Amino acid sequence: MAELLQTRDYAQFRVVPRTPVIGGWIEGCNLAELDDAGLADLREALWTYGVLFGRGQHLSFDAMKRVALAFGDRLEKHTFAPTKADEGHPEVVVIQRLQTENAKSTTDLWHHDVTARKHPNIMSILQAEQVPFGADTMWASMSAAYERLPEALKALFSGIQVEHDSVYLMLRHDFGDAAIIERIMAAREHAVHPAVIRHHSTGKPCLFVGNAYVQRVHGYETELSEPLIKIAGEMSKIPEIQVRHQWEPGDVALWDNFGTTHYGVSADIGTQLRRLHRVASWSEKVAPEPYMALAAE
Ligand SMILES: [Fe+2]
Repeated sequence: MAELLQTRDYAQFRVVPRTPVIGGWIEGCNLAELDDAGLADLREALWTYGVLFGRGQHLSFDAMKRVALAFGDRLEKHTFAPTKADEGHPEVVVIQRLQTENAKSTTDLWHHDVTARKHPNIMSILQAEQVPFGADTMWASMSAAYERLPEALKALFSGIQVEHDSVYLMLRHDFGDAAIIERIMAAREHAVHPAVIRHHSTGKPCLFVGNAYVQRVHGYETELSEPLIKIAGEMSKIPEIQVRHQWEPGDVALWDNFGTTHYGVSADIGTQLRRLHRVASWSEKVAPEPYMALAAE
């Protein structure tokens, strides 16, 4: 059993846990004002709590980028999502659902972001502009998910790798829009990652499968691959390892993209506007490494 989260005072802010296992409120600071020492503490806090939430932060896009760059030396440039490039911020992804009655949500599945890349995002910072009642976001701890696996399944998942593919994501989740499909096809991304990773900072084992880009267990027939992916996916659904955030305008959430999965609750929002902005960072020095050495193929 992992240690339960506690309230912790850092020099420039305090973190109060939202559950014993995952999530913490950041109190007593605006993230734009943290100096380098404050950002170093923020890093430590994120690896400890998995997700950090701040009320009423109202960060500028530049401030969001500065926070993200404290975690990885490169900012994400998303392949197909809409961005604020027209305002000089191509690194700011606009998370917005089309305002039509039959608009599909593409975030209501448990996933890590952009895992079809060799170097997925290390972390993301998401800020709410407007979110309808009920369209919450949920996160689940993947170190807790691993701990909860029976020993036999720990061993099994520690010995396999999973193929992640952006075209597969598109085909499975019916993105619909021809322009997006064209962009995804043109910049197809594909990567093979261990199903259990050693967290780059904490060293803890984390289940790293999710259910977005996941195509198949590497080297396994479909009949074996699909049930294993389903079992891994079930682990994100355990309420005891989750935290759920009800958004207010100006709220931010920062998450550890290697150690947690997330789920955008689609809710029945009809034509109401749901708009958030996301900045994420990554590094060529940080990739999902296997928790245990994998057998040679
Ligand atoms: Fe996501």
